[in-house]
Amino acid sequence: MNKKIKGVILAGGSGTRLFPITKIISKQLLPVYNKPMIYLPLGLLISLGIKDILIIVTPRDLPLFKKLLGNGINLNCKIQYKIQKKPNGIAEAIKLSKSFFTSKKILLLLGDNFFFGNNLDKIIIEAINSPKGASIFTYKVNNPQRYGVLSIRNNKIVNIVEKPKKPTSNRAIPGIYIYDKKSISYVNNQKPSKRGELEITDLNNRYLKNNDLEIFDFNDGIIWMDMGTFDSYLEASQFIAATEKRQGFEIYSLNKSNG
Ligand code: G1P
Repeated sequence: MNKKIKGVILAGGSGTRLFPITKIISKQLLPVYNKPMIYLPLGLLISLGIKDILIIVTPRDLPLFKKLLGNGINLNCKIQYKIQKKPNGIAEAIKLSKSFFTSKKILLLLGDNFFFGNNLDKIIIEAINSPKGASIFTYKVNNPQRYGVLSIRNNKIVNIVEKPKKPTSNRAIPGIYIYDKKSISYVNNQKPSKRGELEITDLNNRYLKNNDLEIFDFNDGIIWMDMGTFDSYLEASQFIAATEKRQGFEIYSLNKSNG
């Protein structure tokens, strides 16, 4: 078990882009081909040896998550839960993790982000071991307007911009972040953005300004999908179905005795 780091999965939020389905159930409990979406971030943490895990959920969905995953004992991990009353933004996950954050760093994963691929674990472990206070990743995309994006001027990273109308690069920031404990006081001092949320991009910019942020690039052999829209949700299901059928193994298979 990796003691330096604990894992946090943010599975709150209202999933408005998947309405009306998410009016009645958490997005992270919807099936992605043959497994609930939450298995994907959970499987990634377990594959990294991060087995002390906090899952942040809405009050509505807590009983269902508990029924599915319990305290993690059948999955060879330890799962605790925390309620996020309202979708107040990704950075709120840091605030909600305060009493859980007894390790040197935490790895925060968005519950609707799917990562898979060659050497994925190697690069994440390198990021965990970085001497910097925070580590984030980039991934080249065709539609940077939808994400937090690196702003690059004269070959220098100057800023990270949340959903820029005119992106200056195609390097999006996926929903996987590593922070040390300074993140707690930073978020406590953060103000909500125009959309009323505590933005993870503001937290990342704070580390960047302090020269305390390390940025790793995910290479072409790594798949990143955000399953928050109907199209990306369908694409993730199709990718998993095709890969599993063709190669004859199950992606992020968790112990079936859990069923
Ligand atoms: C969030 C973050 C954004 C990040 C994205 C990754 O956006 O705010 O910086 O790039 O997750 O999925 P959301 O999809 O919640 O609007």
